[in-house]
Amino acid sequence: MSEAPENSRQPAARARLHLATMGCQMNRYDSSRLAGYLGGLGFVPVDDPWQADVILLNTCSVRHRAEHKVYSYLGQFRELKRRRPEVVLGVGGCVAQQLGEELLRKLPHLDLVFGPGALDRVPELIEDAAKGRRRALTPEQTGFGGIGPCLPARPGLKALVTVMQGCDNFCTYCVVPYVRGRERSRPAGEVLEEVAALAEAGVREVTLLGQNVNSYRDPGGGGGFAWLLERVAEVKGLWRIRFATSHPKDLSRELMEALAGIDKVMEELHLPAQAGSDRVLKAMNRRYSRARYLELVEELRSLVPDVGLGGDLIVGFPGESEDDFRQTLSLVEEVRYDYLYSFKYSDRPFAKASRMAGKLDEPVKARRLRELQELQNRISLELHRAQVGRRVQVLVEGPAKRGEGLMTGRSRAGQAVNFPGGEDLAGRLVEVEITEGRVNSLMGRVVQPPRGGQS
Ligand code: SAH
Ligand code: SF4
Ligand code: F3S
Repeated sequence: MSEAPENSRQPAARARLHLATMGCQMNRYDSSRLAGYLGGLGFVPVDDPWQADVILLNTCSVRHRAEHKVYSYLGQFRELKRRRPEVVLGVGGCVAQQLGEELLRKLPHLDLVFGPGALDRVPELIEDAAKGRRRALTPEQTGFGGIGPCLPARPGLKALVTVMQGCDNFCTYCVVPYVRGRERSRPAGEVLEEVAALAEAGVREVTLLGQNVNSYRDPGGGGGFAWLLERVAEVKGLWRIRFATSHPKDLSRELMEALAGIDKVMEELHLPAQAGSDRVLKAMNRRYSRARYLELVEELRSLVPDVGLGGDLIVGFPGESEDDFRQTLSLVEEVRYDYLYSFKYSDRPFAKASRMAGKLDEPVKARRLRELQELQNRISLELHRAQVGRRVQVLVEGPAKRGEGLMTGRSRAGQAVNFPGGEDLAGRLVEVEITEGRVNSLMGRVVQPPRGGQS
């Protein structure tokens, strides 16, 4: 806000904005909406925070490390604020919601704090900050941030669309229900309007987001999540639909059938197990057993044989014995996930597990995580090598990050596929024959000329 006089009514106009994001896809979605909203008010996005007049960080507090990263990110601007006090520095998202005013006390160079429920108030907070008023706004979370449907400033080939917010599950390790509030579904009409506008702007793939999409219910009187998928699939110009996350306790036959039956819905499911032992699952309040989880995986695979199955697992939950951990390893052996996100348990404020006995030492957790990741890498490599010779449909995203002349995209099952090809393929659907399987990706060659149309 260097050029704006102190009493300006419109400090926002042409201010350069840098918005950084940490955390889950829902946070990324909030950021893209906020960027679109502020863009509409005249803020100009810049990639380099050092060139910005307003620096905002959208934060995550799901694990200790995520929260730690927030402090180191903000810390680097202390000197900048000393030199250019007119720069506005703000924090939003889950850490903001969790700490509120405390953040302003802890970080004297911070100007404003906003919870995920106060996105619409950000312009006002920036204006106040420019006048030297430091404020924290973290209202109780009941809506979707107050800014309604809002297209990203620069829509690409793929987009995220949040269909529900909050969570009522209270897994004992998790901070999310405390920072994101109670579970609420977004009216289907609003979701459909947004997806249609995205498709109109050239978006070909959407990922529908919620902490637990299986319990979606249209507050406007429509149906559940499988019903919503059918409606979204009717949107013209849209080719592909994915969604995350599914809680195993709520995974219905109907949703599996939607996965199997709706052509635009990609054959990918993120179904976190969190642990392989019944004892730990119970202590986590997950409300399903290992046997039930395996049953669901079997049912899903009988309906969708090529489904790309992903999971989340936590090692070192309080009281996790070596035997419990072996059961997590054996679950992974049995399920053979296509991809896995694995984490060391960390204490989170408010979460019940942080007050449980039997906390494990860091080296034990680190060793278990390493063992789990080695096992998954071996399985991923085996699964990917077994794909050699098969043909998969790929939506081409653009040049691969590594490898000259390689293009990259995702298969229907969600695997990253790299192949030689020209940049003119970007945005097209191609058929690729797999020639090599690696741990995190597949290599291939295009066998069918691109089609522009529906998948
Ligand atoms: N709603 C989603 C997950 C949201 S959080 C679900 O229930 O599947 C994303 C992942 O972070 C979780 O699946 C879990 O594996 C991990 N996680 C959450 N809290 C954690 C904690 N306190 N310590 C370590 N990992 C955690
Ligand atoms: Fe957290 Fe459990 Fe809710 Fe997922 S389902 S957000 S892990 S409380
Ligand atoms: Fe993190 Fe909040 Fe998402 S804690 S995982 S940004 S809901």
